[in-house]
Amino acid sequence: MADRPPVALEDRGESGDGRRYSPSAARNREPILRVLKPRLPQPARLLEIASGTGEHGAFLSAEMEGIDWTYSDIDEDSLASQRAWQAMDKTGRLRGPLTLDASADEWGEAELAGEWDAIFSANMIHIAPLAAAEGLIAGAGRLLRPGGLLILYGPFARGGEIAPSNAAFDQSLKARNPSWGVRDLDSELRPIAHKAGLELHDLVDMPANNLTVFFRKTVQEPDD
Ligand SMILES: C[S@@+](CC[C@H](N)C(=O)[O-])C[C@H]1O[C@@H](n2cnc3c(N)ncnc32)[C@H](O)[C@@H]1O
Repeated sequence: MADRPPVALEDRGESGDGRRYSPSAARNREPILRVLKPRLPQPARLLEIASGTGEHGAFLSAEMEGIDWTYSDIDEDSLASQRAWQAMDKTGRLRGPLTLDASADEWGEAELAGEWDAIFSANMIHIAPLAAAEGLIAGAGRLLRPGGLLILYGPFARGGEIAPSNAAFDQSLKARNPSWGVRDLDSELRPIAHKAGLELHDLVDMPANNLTVFFRKTVQEPDD
């Protein structure tokens, strides 16, 4: 629709069957697999937030036999592409998509407290208002089982330091929408996570100055 702002920064390719493709997912899906495979418990029930075209879920669930993967997104075009990927699935472990706004206090059908082993979100929190990151982290604190993982992939600043390429990216995001921007893992996200009962667990440098960040839900109740 011409009057809706784009939800992705790149042109998404389309196949005749409704599945969409994004150049970045083609580039980063193998590096993400290499990081997730040894770190995810299997079997595991994983909820993906902001699944976009759906390529990550299709590829990663096919490559990790113990992972039961559920798509979600806020955007109807993205949900349509995820439905098309799900329709082509041969594993029986690719589910959804659920219509889900990460910034909402209540996640509808995903609201299954303690039943998610992992929540994964790639390239969403900088292309959305901070409320989306806050809602994502709060949802992970609310719904992950104790010891469950919230996994974020994308660009981050670290304690006020930011790679030059990410600083330029941050400026371009803010020019498009002042509420968007590369988030600071240490000064912005970790305090929010701590309040939600999540602690930084692992961190992996990825190509192009991206990170994969693992927060783990603590077994004890969070302090206020
Ligand atoms: C840049 S795309 C990334 C898609 C995919 N995760 C990837 O890495 O290829 C950003 C996605 O975030 C979704 N999104 C933005 N705000 C959201 C929100 N508040 N809740 C859920 N999804 C959201 C958009 O619809 C879009 O699919």
